[in-house]
Amino acid sequence: MFFGCKKLSFGYSENKVLKEIDLEIEKGDFIGLVGSNGSGKSTLLKLLCGILLPEEGQIIFNDQILNDKNRLKVGYIFQNPENQIIGVTVEEDVAFGLENIGVPREQMSERIEWALSTVGLTGFNKNDPNTLSGGQKQRLAIASILAMKPEVILMDEPTSMLDPKGRNEIYKVIDRLLQMGETIIIASHHPSDLEKVDKIIALSEGKIVFEGDKEDFYSKRIIETELPFKEKLKRSVSRNLEELVDELCR
Ligand SMILES: Nc1ncnc2c1ncn2[C@@H]1O[C@H](COP(=O)(O)OP(=O)(O)OP(=O)(O)O)[C@@H](O)[C@H]1O
Ligand SMILES: [Mg+2]
Repeated sequence: MFFGCKKLSFGYSENKVLKEIDLEIEKGDFIGLVGSNGSGKSTLLKLLCGILLPEEGQIIFNDQILNDKNRLKVGYIFQNPENQIIGVTVEEDVAFGLENIGVPREQMSERIEWALSTVGLTGFNKNDPNTLSGGQKQRLAIASILAMKPEVILMDEPTSMLDPKGRNEIYKVIDRLLQMGETIIIASHHPSDLEKVDKIIALSEGKIVFEGDKEDFYSKRIIETELPFKEKLKRSVSRNLEELVDELCR
């Protein structure tokens, strides 16, 4: 298995948040992780990158259990970039993680330039991160993770604090990362974040309740809502009539 988890369970003391989750992600996948507030999206992402440790079950990366060494291959981008940015300048922020993992000095500036250019922040090296816009801060947070050369990037609602312009800047970065062959999981409530995902995974009450196509997810969700029948039908036909008929006749 390239990346995922097996029978993963986790709780905060008595509050069991995830119950025996199985997940298998292929290299290069772009996955949308959805679920209502408190359904455990952030908890799952933090487990998948090793910030939290499983109560039961395993996280797998490249057929191995996630450990102190290979966990660097899985990067996590916080919802609020302020929680992640620690450097006094943009380049120091990117350098911080590299110093921690012992990247030789002579390779550092090359990596920093590469990461900043990938997120569209070339030339911002000496800027104070506090003076950046929300979108720029989020892109700096991505650059600092990217510089460590992860193979999987987990993004926790990366656009929730951004306006449409900032959001579009993040989408451009995501496109670039996918072209580079990165594997991305994005937790989000925002439909436009999910527009290009290959697959949706939905969490509810500690379990995966849906895994599959975006179109299937939306039509299924409409069927399950409390809308009047006619309204459901109107919203669904544009998506996939056959599927709707199947659902209704089941
Ligand atoms: N550090 C913590 N200590 C105790 N309980 C926590 C902690 N973090 C989250 N929880 C609880 O775990 C459950 C899942 O929270 P989590 O933040 O993973 O959900 P989420 O799907 O990311 O929600 P949101 O959409 O609001 O970001 C919730 O009941 C939450 O209250
Ligand atoms: Mg969350």
